[in-house]
Amino acid sequence: MSDAAARPRARVVLADNMEVLPDLPAGGFSLIYIDPPFNTGQTQRRAQLKTVRDAEGDRTGFKGQRYRTIKLGERRYADVFDDYLEFLWPRLEQAHRLLTADGSFFLHLDYREVHYAKIACDQIFGRECFMNEIVWSYDYGGRSKSRWSAKHDNILWYARDPARYTFEYEAIDRIPYMAPGLVGPEKAARGKTPTDVWWQTIVSPQGREKTGYPTQKPLKILERIVQVHSRPGELLLDFFAGSGSFGEAALRHGRDVVLVDQNPEAIEVMRRRLAFAAPTFETIGSGVASEAMTETIAATEVLATTETIAATDVTAATSATDEASDASAATRAIRAPDATPSACETTDATA
Ligand SMILES: C[S@@+](CC[C@H](N)C(=O)[O-])C[C@H]1O[C@@H](n2cnc3c(N)ncnc32)[C@H](O)[C@@H]1O
Repeated sequence: MSDAAARPRARVVLADNMEVLPDLPAGGFSLIYIDPPFNTGQTQRRAQLKTVRDAEGDRTGFKGQRYRTIKLGERRYADVFDDYLEFLWPRLEQAHRLLTADGSFFLHLDYREVHYAKIACDQIFGRECFMNEIVWSYDYGGRSKSRWSAKHDNILWYARDPARYTFEYEAIDRIPYMAPGLVGPEKAARGKTPTDVWWQTIVSPQGREKTGYPTQKPLKILERIVQVHSRPGELLLDFFAGSGSFGEAALRHGRDVVLVDQNPEAIEVMRRRLAFAAPTFETIGSGVASEAMTETIAATEVLATTETIAATDVTAATSATDEASDASAATRAIRAPDATPSACETTDATA
């Protein structure tokens, strides 16, 4: 077999996912992961900055050198929904329809909507199909002085059939014991399997993994899901693909993948990030942001030169649209006034 024939395939689609999902074949996907907007009531932004050495600059760096910050641009998308469940429900129904008989669905959310989404998924998949709520815990960003700081996301796992699903135990990555001295050298060297609480730092603003796309999720989290819940050669799907983290995890582990996002900037990021797998690209429907998005998102420039995106890439979040939205009672009830940002949001504060 030639390399090209053996290489996992990726299809990247620029579209509102509801324009794509109904046309995909029922039972076609072994693993579906989605990380929809969390309904933060904000525009998710990530400023991209470059620093140049300047004695009059606004920052102090290594060895006390002064630097000036130049703003290169910004990536952003809207995260405001009048009725979040109304938005999510038909997409959850599609996920259920698209799974293979032994397939698994992962829904990545945070405290704002996860409880409502759990009830929706219980109805759509069946309560008996709920397998786990995985808590992804990180410790980064600002601290609230008026409540416990929210430092975790929630990932719901549903199996299409609770009696028949993929769980590749041997593929689980091992983590160190907290007290290795208590378990003996052999066990300590092997490490232990994680529980349903996954400790993993967010994508480092300085790290190589960083794409500059807001709310990018760590590859490690997605690799664990891909490796344990699917097999090489299977077809996977992420229809809120963003920067393509799930796509990269799938491709790096020999799975085929379909990735959908309605934001042209996400497609541009994936074009660069997934180039190693030579994906196909297409646009379906208008291929641009939905009405709600176009109202809030002006045309933004896409930056090709990631090298110039300095280690000082900072984030900012605005809530300009928060008060303006006539959010549903449910949404209002769970959008706390001084809620601390979670990993899906962007924050420039540090502990
Ligand atoms: C939280 S981000 C996903 C981040 C991604 N997991 C990553 O690691 O980069 C949510 C994405 O959903 C996309 N999105 C929102 N509504 C959509 C829709 N109706 N159809 C397709 N994509 C949508 C946004 O453009 C955004 O890129």
